[in-house]
Amino acid sequence: MTPRRIVTLETPELLAQHVARFIADAIAAKPDRFTIALSGGSTPKRLYEILAAAPFADSIPWERVHLFWGDERLVPHTSPDSNYRMTCEALLDHVPIPVANIHPVPEGLAPEQAARQYEQALKTHYGSEALNAARPLFDITLLGLGENGHTASLFPDTASLEETRAWVVPVIENVPQPRLTLTYPAIASSRTVAFLVAGGNKASVLRRVLDGDRTQPAARVTSVGDLIWFIDKAAGG
Ligand code: 6PG
Repeated sequence: MTPRRIVTLETPELLAQHVARFIADAIAAKPDRFTIALSGGSTPKRLYEILAAAPFADSIPWERVHLFWGDERLVPHTSPDSNYRMTCEALLDHVPIPVANIHPVPEGLAPEQAARQYEQALKTHYGSEALNAARPLFDITLLGLGENGHTASLFPDTASLEETRAWVVPVIENVPQPRLTLTYPAIASSRTVAFLVAGGNKASVLRRVLDGDRTQPAARVTSVGDLIWFIDKAAGG
């Protein structure tokens, strides 16, 4: 059973500040390469902006940090819908992270081709074709929670929920636009899975997920390490 913790902060701002400190401390505590799977959507934007400012921008050893995305919309990187673009504007354009350490989902490819190419990038980074629980793929995987219980792009009623071998799959059906997502096995290969959930509109779905309602995709996320819910008071209900 994955150890699970719930950390509640008073406001979205205090939540973002707390998670920024958590990430910075985790990077500082590990002497070598630190790999993060970033979340998309709107909730993490403020977190990324805080990481792009003092004291984090100048103190985090960005040369040791590698960034992937837990999911991406299959749109050009310049699209307002792109998680990569959001992250560039909030964080990447403001910190001295080497370009080689930034691993966006490739653009302009057919969904299956993009999934295969992105999975290969992850396997090359990891150094093996097979995940080993003793050596997690990610140090931290950041995840959000949608009001329909999705996380990353693991949406209800999609084949992505049943994928047990691939690390990355396209999600075409039952989603607002074609996406790529990490699968449950890839997400589970994390020292820490950190959900970031804010807002009263998430209170109902969060309660169902925390109660273990497995009809909610987010409730099926596991971690070989820690699994922490960082939430604000409003989402906590
Ligand atoms: C995405 C995200 C998605 C997000 C949830 C919550 O690409 O949209 O990865 O899983 O985390 O939809 O989105 P908000 O933070 O905007 O509520």
